[in-house]
Amino acid sequence: MRVYIADLKDHVGQTVTVDGWVYNHRSSGKIKFLLLRDGTGISQCVYFRGECEEKAFEDFEKLSQESCVRVTGVVKAEPRSPGGFELGARELVIHSGSVDYPITPKEHGPDFLLNNRHLWMRSKRQHALLRVRAEIIAAIRDFFDGRGFTLTDAPIFTPNACEGTSTLFQTQYFDEKAFLSQSGQLYMEATAAAFGKVYCFGPTFRAEKSKTRRHLIEFWMVEPEVAFNDLYDNMELAEQFVEYVIQRTLKNKAEELKVLERNTDSLSKVKAPFPRIHYKEATEMILKENPSFEVGGDFGAPDEAIVSAKFEKPVFVHHFPSAIKAFYMKEDEKEPGYSMSCDLLAPEGYGEVIGGGQREDNYDVLVRKIEEHKLSMKDFEWYLDLRKYGTFKHAGFGLGVERTVAWVCGIQHVRETIPFPRLYGRNYP
Ligand code: 4AD
Ligand code: MG
Repeated sequence: MRVYIADLKDHVGQTVTVDGWVYNHRSSGKIKFLLLRDGTGISQCVYFRGECEEKAFEDFEKLSQESCVRVTGVVKAEPRSPGGFELGARELVIHSGSVDYPITPKEHGPDFLLNNRHLWMRSKRQHALLRVRAEIIAAIRDFFDGRGFTLTDAPIFTPNACEGTSTLFQTQYFDEKAFLSQSGQLYMEATAAAFGKVYCFGPTFRAEKSKTRRHLIEFWMVEPEVAFNDLYDNMELAEQFVEYVIQRTLKNKAEELKVLERNTDSLSKVKAPFPRIHYKEATEMILKENPSFEVGGDFGAPDEAIVSAKFEKPVFVHHFPSAIKAFYMKEDEKEPGYSMSCDLLAPEGYGEVIGGGQREDNYDVLVRKIEEHKLSMKDFEWYLDLRKYGTFKHAGFGLGVERTVAWVCGIQHVRETIPFPRLYGRNYP
């Protein structure tokens, strides 16, 4: 019977067959150890001379790191084996060899590893990171699907900019020019009027010509949008959502977080409600430690770190100046010059993981904003229609998956949080 390593627990005492790759192997006299990896786990397989086929014992010497093999043996509970079970191996079939596997236990530089990303993901740490990512994505979908949201995915080819024209990826759409989507938000505002509570979840693109630890060229974003929510409802939704995603991942991916040596004390405290501070309050905190910060401007990564260090939990900063936010942000009538925007800053210096807010719902104001931002009115006709036909109060946000994975896993760079990262200067493999 062919089984996966993750399921060995259900087959104690039985003879099973496992296909996989050689993670490690060593021989000492009458006993040979094989660490077998099949993607679902790693298990120790023990070949004893006399207990296994003689041919298996001989063929063992032909193995090398990442040879593809089939092991048949008896499942035993063994607390010292990774995963808690081992195979008392009887047979060995070598499916295929692997000569000079480039990733060895010695230290490799990040460029080398990124060039070998297609192989690097087989190693324990990378494997754990990507399993955490998969859990976070499942949690994101379950949260919204379980709360009456309808998934209404946005297109990737778009005629218009959402997040400013400086990071747009231009491409050809037959005879016209088009852009790759920076955000599905504008489309979610349309689907929110059709379905009430909606979200989209897909890849988004930013032509950011900078190499930072937090920026990818292609990243995944989940974007809920809710009819009749205001800025404060939006923050409430965001904190419930983040609590759910973090707590579920801590519970379901404890093993992976152990492999990553993540101290999860801080993550356990991620429970709603989260503190909320006004932009002005945040700037006062920043100025004390960074006197060169220009009030009215956007926060740099060190400024975000100053603010988040004051709190144990993630913290919302709201009411950013309208001048530094996108055209669609609603200006607060009670506070001219300030927008009904909110960013969520993760603790431990992980920075902004969510950006969002309440949208401008007044037709005339929106027309003025589109003009002020020098955007093409023609491309936004459909968007303006939403303010012409039953305009409504609404709000939403976007959470970046890779920054969330980096935070949960406690790693410094987003390049390891996605199977095949697209970075400035890197479009391979
Ligand atoms: O703050 P941003 O730009 O907001 C929007 O795009 C809104 N339209 C979302 C909305 O309201 N529906 O991006 C949202 C989040 C950021 O907080 C960050 O987590 C992530 O997307 N993000 C990036 N992640 C990796 N690489 C990049 N270049 C990113 N740019 C944004
Ligand atoms: Mg932002």
